[in-house]
Amino acid sequence: MASEKSVWDSNIAFVLAMIGSAVGLGNIWRFPNVLYSNGGGSFMIPYIVSLFILGISFVLVEYAVGFKFKTSLSKIFFTIKPRLEPIAWFIILVVFLITTYYVCVVAWDLIYVALSLTKAWGANPDLFFTVNVLHASDSLSGIFTIVPWVFISVFLVWLSSWAIVQKDLNEGIGKVSKILLPVLVLIVIVIVAFSLTLPGASIGYTQIFTPDWSALTNLNVWLAAFGQIVFSLSLGMSIALTYASYLPEDSKLTDNALIVAFSNSGFEVFNAIGIFSILGFMTLTSGIPFNELVTEGTGLAFVVFPKVFNVMGPWASVIGPLFFLCILFAGLTSLIALLEVASFAISEKFGFSRRKSATLVCVVGFCISCLFAT
Ligand code: PFF
Repeated sequence: MASEKSVWDSNIAFVLAMIGSAVGLGNIWRFPNVLYSNGGGSFMIPYIVSLFILGISFVLVEYAVGFKFKTSLSKIFFTIKPRLEPIAWFIILVVFLITTYYVCVVAWDLIYVALSLTKAWGANPDLFFTVNVLHASDSLSGIFTIVPWVFISVFLVWLSSWAIVQKDLNEGIGKVSKILLPVLVLIVIVIVAFSLTLPGASIGYTQIFTPDWSALTNLNVWLAAFGQIVFSLSLGMSIALTYASYLPEDSKLTDNALIVAFSNSGFEVFNAIGIFSILGFMTLTSGIPFNELVTEGTGLAFVVFPKVFNVMGPWASVIGPLFFLCILFAGLTSLIALLEVASFAISEKFGFSRRKSATLVCVVGFCISCLFAT
């Protein structure tokens, strides 16, 4: 069966799906650490420069290529030169493998949405994460032991992603982005507003506005800024290219690229104000130095934040679940975009329906992700 040609039914669906693809774990738990470790306030200068020099122009290039060719990365490379096609498939494979891991991180977060309702991680969140959640062990034998909760959660995340991606473009990705993105923004507004009322918040947020000008002469600071823009805008993963290939003829590419790039950066800077304020509160109440709290990734979300919720009092049972829901929604909207890359490429290559290629990608992906559930 020939694959049906999907087209966005509105520009807002495309823009929200694009922002959803960009706003992800990188914005929430990577950016604050990158900002803090690279000069605080003065980091905004290399960050804005890289947003303009690399971010906006790279998004525009991906849009232009997808919009012009209206097909998948592999078909575009083939059209340019047949010998280039394997390179495209290699890129698609890498994006797919990243997806299989990204699912697991979102799955851990899903577990924490439930745990946060009762602060079930107890007095030692560090140990709880490695022992009770991950069942981490030093020996290789653990690779054959499935961790039931992680497995169930990984399955649920794959199932929901499949349910979205296999649907018609507008009914699935379009509709979900229109719902999840506004909810995500609302949650972050609530968290940031609340965090600013916490005692000690200023210990945290002043870090964002206090520049260390000497950092600007450090090449690594500039590299970190460019790295953050690449990660956060999901550049080079052919997501923007894939989504732009579904645009109708009269679309305004430059306007869309600017909206997406600014929204993504606006989101991460705004979110960082909340994260820093909450960490400032923790420094004040627990005496742990601020620099020890600004970790990144799973350490920040699944260890430091549970510790904060342990000392936050009754509000923790509201802010805790909201915080993990925020990561869940941001992760899910990025996940469906990552999946769409492989799914679209397969449907274009073999003429499969949207549903068939999405199912294939999700089944294979789930099997690979199971390795991470051991
Ligand atoms: N931009 C998204 C994020 O910041 O989480 C999605 C993403 C970026 C996924 C980079 C994977 C990746 F390697």
